[in-house]
Amino acid sequence: MGIFVVAGVSGNTGSVVAETLLAQGKSVRVVVRDAAKGDAWKARGAEVAVATLTDADALARAFAGADGVYVLAPPFSFAAEDPSADRPALFAGVTGALRKARPAHVVLLSSVGAQHAAGNGPIAALHAFEREIAATGVPATFLRAAYFMENWASSLGGALEANALYNALTADRKIPQVATRDIGTTAARLLLEPVASGTRVVELAGPADYSLDDVAATLSAVVGRSIPAVQVPIEGLKGALRGMGASAAVAELYGEMTDGINRGHVAFEHGAKALVRGPTTLETVLRSLLKR
Ligand SMILES: NC(=O)c1ccc[n+]([C@@H]2O[C@H](COP(=O)([O-])OP(=O)(O)OC[C@H]3O[C@@H](n4cnc5c(N)ncnc54)[C@H](OP(=O)(O)O)[C@@H]3O)[C@@H](O)[C@H]2O)c1
Repeated sequence: MGIFVVAGVSGNTGSVVAETLLAQGKSVRVVVRDAAKGDAWKARGAEVAVATLTDADALARAFAGADGVYVLAPPFSFAAEDPSADRPALFAGVTGALRKARPAHVVLLSSVGAQHAAGNGPIAALHAFEREIAATGVPATFLRAAYFMENWASSLGGALEANALYNALTADRKIPQVATRDIGTTAARLLLEPVASGTRVVELAGPADYSLDDVAATLSAVVGRSIPAVQVPIEGLKGALRGMGASAAVAELYGEMTDGINRGHVAFEHGAKALVRGPTTLETVLRSLLKR
């Protein structure tokens, strides 16, 4: 039996991918930048490879002999003046390693809206990453995940304090959202059901779509008091992000993405029939975020 390699294993989704495969008795090699972060995985029976995503040689050693590898584009720094500056080195590291090691299959965590090259903010980089991975010829699955339910974590404190959930998403427009746990378990399943050649797109959402009003109503139910949604303009979102330390360029990207969601540009490419839905509800995620 071959081995599955998981990058980003200290993160939200990679940790679930590795945990799910280990629980099924599969051989797993985790990729960490900092060897100390590998210790807990070693204790659980995983092999540990130390490599950064920009180092194609070290990463190729980590990918060697793999039946499947899980990769993602690490989030860029919130304060980055040019958030796209580090992307070429990250993408070259991963694609260089895929070309050298030629694992049987790669699963990339991508995003809703990654079929578009522009008008989608930070998702445009994932469009480029998909294309670069496809060009390696390594059979690839692009797991295009919906808006993370965990994105609400950064708004909860303020909402409880102000008794209002401020956001620039259209208040009554239902959008797909997904729990990072469901992304991890789906990615693990896709690693076990690889494509033999070419590329496959898998679009993933949660059990239902939720509007900003729905999120506010769910939050209200969980905390037992009324916390209505307040839709703010995109410019207001950008100002708030700047106030939280985002660079002008990063605020611009998130503004563009939010506007793209509101006008239906950042949406699934293949429609409801092809959509995979995970089981975890928004209520479950909000409850767990509030416990932290
Ligand atoms: N938020 C959304 O709504 C949404 C929706 C769809 C897709 N996405 C995509 O989801 C991805 C984030 O996934 P996530 O939440 O699972 O990630 P995450 O929790 O932010 O974790 C990032 C992981 O990448 C590792 N990492 C960072 N820089 C690295 C480097 N240079 N070399 C090797 N490893 C490195 C980190 O390791 P360390 O512990 O060493 O830092 C960490 O394990 C992004 O690509 C984002 O665009 C997000």
